[in-house]
Amino acid sequence: MRILSGIQPSGTMHLGNYLGAVRQWVAAQNPEAFFCVVDLHALTLEIEPSQLRTQTWDTLASLLAAGLDPAQCTLFIQSQVPFHTQMSWLLECVASYGELTRMTQFKEKSGRQEGYRVGLLTYPVLMAGDILLYSAQQVPVGDDQRQHLELTRDIAERFNNRYGEVFTIPVGVQPPAAARVMDLQEPSRKMSKSLSSPLGSIFLLDEPSAIEKKIKKAVTDTDGEVRYDWETKPGLSNLLEIFACITGETPAAVAERYERYGDLKSDLAAAVIAELTPVRERYDVLRADPAQLASIAAQGADKASQVAGERYRLAASAMGLI
Ligand code: AMP
Ligand code: TRP
Repeated sequence: MRILSGIQPSGTMHLGNYLGAVRQWVAAQNPEAFFCVVDLHALTLEIEPSQLRTQTWDTLASLLAAGLDPAQCTLFIQSQVPFHTQMSWLLECVASYGELTRMTQFKEKSGRQEGYRVGLLTYPVLMAGDILLYSAQQVPVGDDQRQHLELTRDIAERFNNRYGEVFTIPVGVQPPAAARVMDLQEPSRKMSKSLSSPLGSIFLLDEPSAIEKKIKKAVTDTDGEVRYDWETKPGLSNLLEIFACITGETPAAVAERYERYGDLKSDLAAAVIAELTPVRERYDVLRADPAQLASIAAQGADKASQVAGERYRLAASAMGLI
């Protein structure tokens, strides 16, 4: 199955990234799967160059620690495969300004700052290029990327209608639970790398004591009944989703096993710690060997370029470029 997905090196990976996306990638990896650290996307918001560089390696090491294996899939850094920026230009000349300004994420992020970058507007086109370059059939992502996936499909269909069948039309794939992990302190807001409250996000590399504290202090409600109900119990439902994702149950089935919030929280903390501890231990080893990370990235970029180059040339030629 041809698969592609990506993650921005814009901060430390959190439980939302892991459960919503990366854990699915690990399960789906195969020789036809491509996963990238999308450093070009991270330039759409202000970021220190040194920080971007460090976080790109951190993110690559985190993906390896989470279980992606370069012998089973292709793992690369987006900017090391120049076809991504080249394809993005071709697709900017297929996408319309109107459809880009309608993207929810663009509206949110551009609303937060004066003089936002043009890249913030064109970001979903770069993402469409990432996907279409590899003829991905499936794109495993969290819920917040659904709209960008729809746009990718629209762009691909428009291109194919106008210039001939060059692109595979991809579908987005979400996990059955935890496709949108919410902030533990503000369950109306999704868990994020940057905007969360200090206790709101669990990070991939958190120590067990920090994980335990954050889950114990997670906001719930005062009615005390363990029930899966996003309307009236968003905090608790978020915890149930996280639990269900880890154990492979449904959130409602997890809820049935508990009478008290405290017991649920203790068991959930133990489950999250058991899931993340091996990842953190592997990360420490991997991150300590920058030469190995660089070599994995170089090999990945090489493999990715072969596939991406072929699709880019077909697209460019279909549009009339020499
Ligand atoms: P990003 O960190 O924005 O590059 O996201 C990387 C992947 O994690 C994407 O597939 C997102 O949809 C997914 N993701 C990000 N935040 C969350 C969240 N709070 N819950 C579930 N998935 C998420
Ligand atoms: N836009 C995605 C995010 O912020 C990251 C991303 C970039 C991506 N290119 C992609 C995801 C291609 C899937 C496929 O999470």
